[in-house]
Amino acid sequence: MDRVVMQKEKSMKATVFRFTNSMEDPRRFLKEATKFVEENVSSGEKVVCALSGGVDSSTTAEIFRRAIGNRLYPLHFDTGFMRRIGGKEEVKLVEESFKDFENFELIDKKETFYDNVFGKEDAEEKRKSFRSTYEQVLNEKIEEIGATVMTQGTIRPDILETEGKIKSQNNVDTDFDVEKLVEPLAGLYKPDVRKLAKELGFPEKNWMRQPFLGPGLSARTVGVVNREKLENEKIANDLVERFVERYFEKNYGRVGLWDEVVGARIPFQYFAVTLDGEMEANGEINEYLEDLGLDAEAFNLKNKATGVKEVEGGRERVYSPPVLLRGNLEPEVLNYLGREVPSRFGVSRVLFQLVGSEETDWIVGIRAVDSKDAITAEPLEIPLSEWEELGKEIARETDSKIVAYDLTPKPPATIEYE
Ligand code: XMP
Repeated sequence: MDRVVMQKEKSMKATVFRFTNSMEDPRRFLKEATKFVEENVSSGEKVVCALSGGVDSSTTAEIFRRAIGNRLYPLHFDTGFMRRIGGKEEVKLVEESFKDFENFELIDKKETFYDNVFGKEDAEEKRKSFRSTYEQVLNEKIEEIGATVMTQGTIRPDILETEGKIKSQNNVDTDFDVEKLVEPLAGLYKPDVRKLAKELGFPEKNWMRQPFLGPGLSARTVGVVNREKLENEKIANDLVERFVERYFEKNYGRVGLWDEVVGARIPFQYFAVTLDGEMEANGEINEYLEDLGLDAEAFNLKNKATGVKEVEGGRERVYSPPVLLRGNLEPEVLNYLGREVPSRFGVSRVLFQLVGSEETDWIVGIRAVDSKDAITAEPLEIPLSEWEELGKEIARETDSKIVAYDLTPKPPATIEYE
């Protein structure tokens, strides 16, 4: 018997139908999920699918296409905060992947999102503005199409994170002007969705895609976001992704590996963040470095970034300024400091400066991690000399003359900065 969760929350207009079965066999799950959709969408109803282009929403769209055919309207909004991949806007790549879906539409809402998000500094406030803008543009489209049902790629961790108040996810508790919200993947974790996407015949580059967060680069442009800083972020991020993929291709023959045993992509995630350039010396850590006889200095950056702290009964999200280390340090020492500095000084993030010492508008942080489930993560081990080459390239191509590598595992840092 299928487990279906039906909820009607007070503030929500729609009744939520969540298929909460887990997956043992992809083929069987596909049959069950398709049946779930058929049973919960009536024959005259039109369904809007909010499509980010990621593996969760793409898989959801394909399940709906199989279940209800051309009554599905997959919509991809150009929020302006999507990445640039290989010099090409990601929205165009999504359009290419979905052009065969009958009612697919790419909707340009860049300026609406920019108007609402630019100028905001606080991380959670940015997320909220992004979310309410998303709600607004999607509701306009729902009305225009006359859809009564909506679907999206919500998976189990999205629900757990929002319920646990770790962060407000884009796709949970959002008010859409439909009668029903039907979510077929709500019982699954990421590795299962990837298996399902593979079963559905998606190309490897799609089912292996690294996770990308809902609010996109608005959350990777740390602190106040504006047009110039966002452009800096897009260029830097594209360089980091290309570099890591080239490195893996050269050394392992593929841009990313798939660990069948734990069901994880290797590397798990790799991206750039853009931070403000202001900093001030951290006297306490400087004394510690001196006591260790290390030729290095420590600075607190101006922006705050997120971390996680173990507390009784679970984890709590914390905000603190990242610490930048500058100096002559060997990889083993860096590895040690990435763990020791947070635990001694209560900071949640430590970066090591790869290039640059002069004044800079923005600092680029390189974040690259291995993880099996995003709950814990370890910095990716690529020789320091390689990261330095990437640092030089970023400093050449952007307005960030300081480029640093993030040394911190999760916990105490989070994978993302906001
Ligand atoms: P953190 O930063 O909490 O991230 O260590 C864990 C994983 O979740 C992804 N992430 C998000 N995904 N919407 C998403 O769809 C979001 O708002 C969001 N925030 C973080 C992050 O990329 C990582 O894989």
